[in-house]
Amino acid sequence: MSRRQIKDSVVVITGASSGIGKQLAIQLSAQGARIVANARRADRLEELKNAIENNGGQLKIIVGDVTESDTRQRIVSETVNEFGGIDILVNNAGVGAIGNFSEASEERLRKIMEVNFFALTEMTRVAIPHLLKSSKQPMIVNISSVLGHRAVPLKSEYCASKFAVHGFSDSLRAELSKQNIDVLLVSPSTTASEFFDSVLEDASGKNPKLGTPMSPEQVAAKTIKAMKRGKHEIILSAGGKSLVWLDRFCPPLANYLMKKHAQ
Ligand SMILES: NC(=O)c1ccc[n+]([C@@H]2O[C@H](COP(=O)([O-])OP(=O)(O)OC[C@H]3O[C@@H](n4cnc5c(N)ncnc54)[C@H](OP(=O)(O)O)[C@@H]3O)[C@@H](O)[C@H]2O)c1
Repeated sequence: MSRRQIKDSVVVITGASSGIGKQLAIQLSAQGARIVANARRADRLEELKNAIENNGGQLKIIVGDVTESDTRQRIVSETVNEFGGIDILVNNAGVGAIGNFSEASEERLRKIMEVNFFALTEMTRVAIPHLLKSSKQPMIVNISSVLGHRAVPLKSEYCASKFAVHGFSDSLRAELSKQNIDVLLVSPSTTASEFFDSVLEDASGKNPKLGTPMSPEQVAAKTIKAMKRGKHEIILSAGGKSLVWLDRFCPPLANYLMKKHAQ
């Protein structure tokens, strides 16, 4: 049973120049959504716009750093000017870093929290007044991580940022339920995107990828399915579900395995 029609919806996606965000733009556009794509790399967004328009879709580019208030204001005002409103906000932009917390800088922690958490919450704040006016079952989609359910070593700042997104999403879902805005928390496992090429720092000397990665196409397809069904939360891989299950039902074993992984 479908709770939400994608066709003709106006969807804002942060971090749409590569990976999961780009695939969400392509697949949502193929289903008839009008897309607003934000990221810092203008050339990548132009390529995406051309690809989408060649397939008969509509995409508006907003280049800018989503950690800046001005960018977030422009995303909202230019979307409303172009398409008349916002139906769905996808907070997808994210960055990571790898390495022990004790050897890292305050700057690394603050940068990750700025992109993964503060930009997401403040983007949400400026979008809510427009989502409230939507007649198409409005929704906020927060792309988090399975590491927002169970933390692992060498990614302490990233895990903390995604736990923050998890808590924020649960609280917001309850607050906005009376106003009929849905909140979906998406928790992918390792995904074969450019994410690991653009980590702020990799001081681990270890391969950070755990398990067989999913493709951004698969993550986007599962996310859109959950959006249509009005789900609250999805954990995308069997490995991710097992990790969360292990952490809930046998924390000592989960902690033991994490200690081994840190060595
Ligand atoms: N890849 C994984 O294994 C994995 C697993 C679980 C969760 N996730 C989450 O999935 C989301 C998407 O990541 P991905 O795997 O698709 O990685 P990706 O290919 O590196 O995409 C990240 C996107 O975020 C954008 N971005 C980064 N900083 C930004 C900023 N300050 N302002 C605006 N845009 C910014 C990047 O664009 P520009 O560089 O052009 O700005 C890019 O479009 C992230 O939230 C990530 O934490 C990823």
